[in-house]
Amino acid sequence: MSLNARRSLAIVLAAGEGVRMRSARPKVLHELAGRSMLAHALSAVLEGATGDVAVVVAPDDDGVAAEALKAAPNAKIAVQRERRGTAHAVLAARAEIERGHDDILVVYADTPLLEARTIMGMLAELAQGADVVALGFEAADPAGYGRLITRDRRLVAIREEKDASADERALRLCNAGPIAFKGAEALNLLDAVKPDNAQSEYYLTDIVEIANARGLTARALIAREKEVMGVNDRAQLAAAEAAMQDRLRRRAMAAGATMTAPETVFLSFDTRIGRDVLIEPHVVIGPKCTIEDGVTIHAFSYLESARVARGAILGPFARLRPGADIGANAKIGNFVEIKQSAIEEGAKVNHLSYIGDARVGAKANIGAGTIVCNYDGFAKHKTDIGAGAFIGSNSALVAPVTIGEGAYVGSGSVITKPVEADALAIARGRQETRAGWARTFRDLHKKG
Ligand code: UD1
Ligand code: MG
Repeated sequence: MSLNARRSLAIVLAAGEGVRMRSARPKVLHELAGRSMLAHALSAVLEGATGDVAVVVAPDDDGVAAEALKAAPNAKIAVQRERRGTAHAVLAARAEIERGHDDILVVYADTPLLEARTIMGMLAELAQGADVVALGFEAADPAGYGRLITRDRRLVAIREEKDASADERALRLCNAGPIAFKGAEALNLLDAVKPDNAQSEYYLTDIVEIANARGLTARALIAREKEVMGVNDRAQLAAAEAAMQDRLRRRAMAAGATMTAPETVFLSFDTRIGRDVLIEPHVVIGPKCTIEDGVTIHAFSYLESARVARGAILGPFARLRPGADIGANAKIGNFVEIKQSAIEEGAKVNHLSYIGDARVGAKANIGAGTIVCNYDGFAKHKTDIGAGAFIGSNSALVAPVTIGEGAYVGSGSVITKPVEADALAIARGRQETRAGWARTFRDLHKKG
């Protein structure tokens, strides 16, 4: 049977207690690179395995179930009523297991860096004849992990630390958590697990010894420690974030982006970056951003839910809020905030401006300090600036308002009425100049 033809059931254990996070939020809903740990785990599963998905949650964990369904709409939610160990948690999905799959894959939702290709590797071992495949890693510090006991290429047992002998504790090859086994053996193995151990728990890891006792074959696949790090507290969450960022930066650079100081650039799980993009130090790119080819992002810029078309230049200190759509070769300069606005091709907003709920037409020039007054305290209103318009510095455009193509707005204007194409609008106090007034004023004060 070819690997592609095999169908698996992936069971994601998400009934985390998470007490060490000290949080009102369930552990697996804490985020890395803008996405929950649970969604990261599900995305690896959906990419690495073909078939069904079940997510095991604790009772009343509606938020966890909702997040699971957002990431994997076809997933089945199974509730583990009591917390009695990892094998017990897997059996919460018994109804799904009974439907019959070639392979069963179990992953923990608090192991968010697991990659799809590792899952594929585990399933490939099953396709090649193994009955049980566990994922191991050489731990820098093995404390707390189950140890893999191997002989030649075979996995003999997984021993939890609390049950291990001194010799077994000395082993550095540890159990990462993910485990895969043949669907045909699944219930035979899981139902044979007994809670006869130091923690009186049903250990999923016991299926390795049970399989061996029945003449089945168990193997271990080895992963890098960084990929299988688990998150139990906020310090580990930060370590996982760092590892995730490292992965995202490498991916962006491999795809043709230059980063002067990659360790200071923060990306999101879904950031799309084209070729020949330059990102200077200290840039934060939040979720849902697309950066097209040839874009330059100068230092200290912050982007969320924004699209930046080819050749555009941002920053330093540019702020793109959700819905910012920056056209090709446009320029967004320092201390400029753009929200829910299209800045069309070649337009310039170079200094100290706020543009919200607006369209800025192609090649328009928005002078320093221009503010779009889009909010009246109750509703947001639109501003439309035509192609080639020129807005003088320090103008306020009070929305809703339209500035026609090629129109001029005099500096310092407060524009409240439409300006037609090619017109000049000036809305400010007229200047009065009194010759010699200043000298007279000074002289008056000197005498006094
Ligand atoms: C488990 C493994 C250990 C491995 C380690 C890797 C077992 C018996 N041990 O130990 O070999 O080195 O992970 O991190 O599997 N869960 C439930 N319901 C339960 C118990 C656990 O859903 O009743 C979930 C937890 O939320 C967690 C996962 O299963 O996502 C692992 O459980 P945990 O208690 O953290 O196991 P460890 O002691 O870390
Ligand atoms: Mg754990």
